[in-house]
Amino acid sequence: MKIEIINFEIKGNERGSLIALEENKNIPFDIRRVYYIFGTKEKVRRGFHAHKQLNQVAICLNGSCKILLDDGNEKKAVLLDQPDKGLIIREMIWHEMFDFSEDCVLIVLASELYEESDYIRNYEKYLCIEGSNG
Ligand code: TYD
Repeated sequence: MKIEIINFEIKGNERGSLIALEENKNIPFDIRRVYYIFGTKEKVRRGFHAHKQLNQVAICLNGSCKILLDDGNEKKAVLLDQPDKGLIIREMIWHEMFDFSEDCVLIVLASELYEESDYIRNYEKYLCIEGSNG
């Protein structure tokens, strides 16, 4: 499984830093939804799902966390600890978020509106669907 990281260009000067996110430019899809996760309690693990059709980019704006990606064959954990680093989470990739620092703010850009029917929340079912897709 290829880990796809986007390194955003920082428009920095003596006043500080700025990053701009633009759909179909440095974000590889139409951005239809943005959500962010913060105040996650210590030792909490979130996610535990895959999406049938959704593509996402996760960026840790503050603090740090880890994201486990699993394509049904291979699992890889990625540390997100820089606001200029985006992790692409493609459709049909099982993912879990963990090791949140107390100050972690994780923003996620998503290619579709929230749709519960797009979620696969059962890992056995995920493996079955992923396996049948070849
Ligand atoms: P949930 O999927 O359980 O979060 P995680 O995958 O991080 O563990 O989502 C938490 C709640 O927020 C749940 O009630 C669904 C809701 N939600 C929305 O209403 N809109 C959204 O865009 C997302 C991602 C979640």
